[in-house]
Amino acid sequence: MANERVVVVGAGSISNAWFPPLLAEGVTVAGVVDLNLDNARSQIDKYALGCHASANLSSTLRRTKPDFVLDLTIPAAHCNVTCKALRAGYPVIGEKPMADSMSQARRMVATADKSGKLYMVSQSRRWDANHALTRQIIAGGAIGQVAAMNCDFYIGAHFGGFRDAMPSPLILDMAIHQFDLARYLSGSDPLAVYAKEFNPAGSWYAGAAAASCIFEMTGGVVFTFRGSWCAEGCHTSWNGDWRIIGERGTMLMEKDQPPRGQVVAGSEGFHRPLADVPVPPPSLQFAGMHGSLREMLEYLRTGAKPQTECHDNIKSLAMVFAAIDSAKKGRRVEIRA
Ligand SMILES: NC(=O)c1ccc[n+]([C@@H]2O[C@H](COP(=O)([O-])OP(=O)(O)OC[C@H]3O[C@@H](n4cnc5c(N)ncnc54)[C@H](O)[C@@H]3O)[C@@H](O)[C@H]2O)c1
Repeated sequence: MANERVVVVGAGSISNAWFPPLLAEGVTVAGVVDLNLDNARSQIDKYALGCHASANLSSTLRRTKPDFVLDLTIPAAHCNVTCKALRAGYPVIGEKPMADSMSQARRMVATADKSGKLYMVSQSRRWDANHALTRQIIAGGAIGQVAAMNCDFYIGAHFGGFRDAMPSPLILDMAIHQFDLARYLSGSDPLAVYAKEFNPAGSWYAGAAAASCIFEMTGGVVFTFRGSWCAEGCHTSWNGDWRIIGERGTMLMEKDQPPRGQVVAGSEGFHRPLADVPVPPPSLQFAGMHGSLREMLEYLRTGAKPQTECHDNIKSLAMVFAAIDSAKKGRRVEIRA
């Protein structure tokens, strides 16, 4: 069991996905900080944490001296909360998206550098059995070099709350998952994007709740994302439905089913003979937030760098802001982290 102690900042809805793995790992919650003290108190009661609720991060850190800080606040607060914790000398694991602007994200990376403390972003969908299997199959060379990837994401999501008022709810708060997955699955990094962002007729969002984006990636990979958060009926999975096309074959991930694929198995015929791609049994042990928490604990114990450490994760965020910029300018833009 863990000896580590954590201060959790932000006790909103996503904290319900974090307290169970923290408790399962034996991490001691030393304090819960929320500007809305009632939220902090009710989560402390719900999970029988037996710690103090506070609205003041600095004083809580001084009092509790945790091993790390977990930032579960809204995107607009991530930079302030995370930088405060880093400057006070604490490593941070924070919810996606890293920040709600690239300048804030760069400030967070610079603060991690200056303080010498680790900052990792939890991109929970990297720790998903089907995604891990698909990456393993692709990295093993089964379909050859990846040439193109498509992801479709269509959900009618009535949240209420901060997302309804955001300028770019789909791209910033949701598509960050799929953009990061495109990097994770293909092992390629973004170079440029052309995007159209829009708010469809009938939308209940103030900002653009739909988008189509074409990314150019390293290795010649073209990644196309089409999505909407106000598409009623015939929903895709929350991970999106994926088609990944390589030199010799194709992998599909749809409706949260295990990946399946076909590769060329002969050299004659209009359609070449095809064989199913062998899919090994899933090996991922800890899913979602639990998986990213395990990487943070591993870092604290061994120094092993988490895969979504901020210097890497800012490349996924750069895809988000370049797509928004491209949509505003109506042209292709280059992507710089
Ligand atoms: N990984 C996922 O699949 C996933 C799913 C949902 C949400 N999220 C992310 O989790 C984060 C939180 O989302 P949520 O749905 O829990 O939001 P929420 O609005 O339910 O909760 C946010 C909480 O943070 C508090 N807060 C805001 N600013 C603060 C500050 N400066 N200091 C202390 N507390 C502050 C609010 O009072 C609120 O209690 C967002 O970044 C969101 O994108 C991730």
